Amino acid sequence: MSRSGDYDAVRADVAAILKKPDWDDGSLGPVLVRLAWHASGTYDAKSRTGGSNGATMRFKPESTDGANAGLEHARAFLEPIKTPARACLEPSKTKHPWISYADLWTLAGVASIEAMGGPKIPWKPGRTDKSPQTVKAADIPPNGRLPDASQGAKHVRDIFYRMGFSDQEIVALSGAHALGRCHTERSGYTGPWTYTPNRFSNQYFVLLTTVQWQKKKWDGPEQYVDPDDELMMLPTDMALIWDPAFEKYVRIYAKDKDAFFRDFAAAFGKLLDLGVPRTKI
Ligand code: HEM
Repeated sequence: MSRSGDYDAVRADVAAILKKPDWDDGSLGPVLVRLAWHASGTYDAKSRTGGSNGATMRFKPESTDGANAGLEHARAFLEPIKTPARACLEPSKTKHPWISYADLWTLAGVASIEAMGGPKIPWKPGRTDKSPQTVKAADIPPNGRLPDASQGAKHVRDIFYRMGFSDQEIVALSGAHALGRCHTERSGYTGPWTYTPNRFSNQYFVLLTTVQWQKKKWDGPEQYVDPDDELMMLPTDMALIWDPAFEKYVRIYAKDKDAFFRDFAAAFGKLLDLGVPRTKI
């Protein structure tokens, strides 16, 4: 068992489980980033409810929110890092039972970004978990607080302004779609955004601004594809080039990878900390 508070040991163990040849494009990184974001993205600045503190995605109704489909896999992949099933048989394999789920999920997102070539994200521990025995309905954010990919710029602003983000931060955060892919059985959409879904990069912005995106011809929900139908964009992704205030930042990040890495690190660090009680010194 690691020493309580040894977050570097947890980071190293997260990095060690990422490679998984039979999962998607061979890495758990993208789905772990999505877990960290969805755990945090329920925050409402006005009522100061939601956010990563509490790790309430373990409980209904949050666990059943359609937006969280597939994240049960991400949570299960992290379980052995906290509570190894075979610990009683192999005590040396006992890992980090002292870490809260809320810290683990957010730290796993941070460690994944860094392992996939992204920037160092500011991250602080201190989240606590609601207990399954004593959690109250009021502790769990209602479903419907995460964005709906079928909508446009107004909806995107409504969701992210509610958390306290600016247009620039919204665009920077959206650059995480350089990673991973959509799965029809989870969201109804299909395909990756970039040719390198396991590599954190500014490719999402480069592709948004250079590809001739067209509506995919299929029976599924409206999504956009490149002429070879290999890559995809959601309607909310397209909103970032259709809305002039968003588009300005898309073009900046397409040209300037360092600016994107710097702004993403700041915005993602802020996202993961929303609603986490911090004592002021
Ligand atoms: C995947 C929607 C913002 C990170 C997805 C998927 C959808 C989606 C529909 C596919 C889920 C699936 O089928 O598996 C949206 C919408 C957003 C948004 C509508 C905002 C308007 C973000 C942000 C981040 C993020 C802010 C992180 C900072 C990811 C990642 C994946 C993903 C890494 C890939 C997951 C995987 O490969 O399993 N998103 N997203 N998204 N999203 Fe977002």
